[in-house]
Amino acid sequence: MTKPLRLGVNIDHVATVRNARGGALPDPVRAALLAIAAGADGITAHLREDRRHIRDEDMARLKREISKPLNFEMAATDEMVGIALHTRPHASCLVPEKRSERTTEGGLDVVSGHDRLKIITQELTRAGVRVSLFIEPSLEALEASKSIGAPVVELHTGSWCDAISHGQSDKADHEFGRIRVAAARAEELGIECHAGHGLDFDTARKIASLPQIIELNIGHFLMGEAIFVGLTQAIRTMRKAMDEGRAQGA
Ligand code: PXP
Repeated sequence: MTKPLRLGVNIDHVATVRNARGGALPDPVRAALLAIAAGADGITAHLREDRRHIRDEDMARLKREISKPLNFEMAATDEMVGIALHTRPHASCLVPEKRSERTTEGGLDVVSGHDRLKIITQELTRAGVRVSLFIEPSLEALEASKSIGAPVVELHTGSWCDAISHGQSDKADHEFGRIRVAAARAEELGIECHAGHGLDFDTARKIASLPQIIELNIGHFLMGEAIFVGLTQAIRTMRKAMDEGRAQGA
């Protein structure tokens, strides 16, 4: 039987808008509660080193106030590991982070970062936090993730989504092929497979057809749609697209 596909909603952009004015509104925790009421299975928030959107107190409140799993996206730094150990979210998704980037560009370098990522994974796992590594959809990255001992990987879908939005259909097919092969390999290795970055209704519908992927994490597109139709409607339409794609692939 095909496994259900979970929707994790990334609420970072609500904090970006709040910080633009420097006050308390709009409140990212309110957005998280609304997202859950609309059908999100979990909430993702990225505490960046420069605190450009989510702040420490947002993470603490999310942990206290939401009823669904919190996915704490973070760089693999001592500071962030310390905050995660204190916050004890359901999951920590380790991502590469560059100060100059607008969003997370590319997956973690799990090959050269192997030993350090292994220590961090063990530390977080011992504290009851489920570790996910945000990686490129490559076999090399999957083998390294297995060796690191990560129970979960999140495949970076950015190159695929970019190729589609630039009308590069051959490249898009190639990138989707990489995601398909990586998802199948993750299952063989016994690693839970998630995916995210740049997804919209159409790409979420398509990737939902891959049965090994059991969670999508989506932020930017949903928050953009929310401006026009409201967050509840945006999430409901996304949920429907994912369910349609899952049914087609089953
Ligand atoms: N997954 C990870 C690990 C991310 O870094 C991001 C971007 O913050 C997302 C998913 C969501 O990407 P988007 O905002 O493009 O939907």
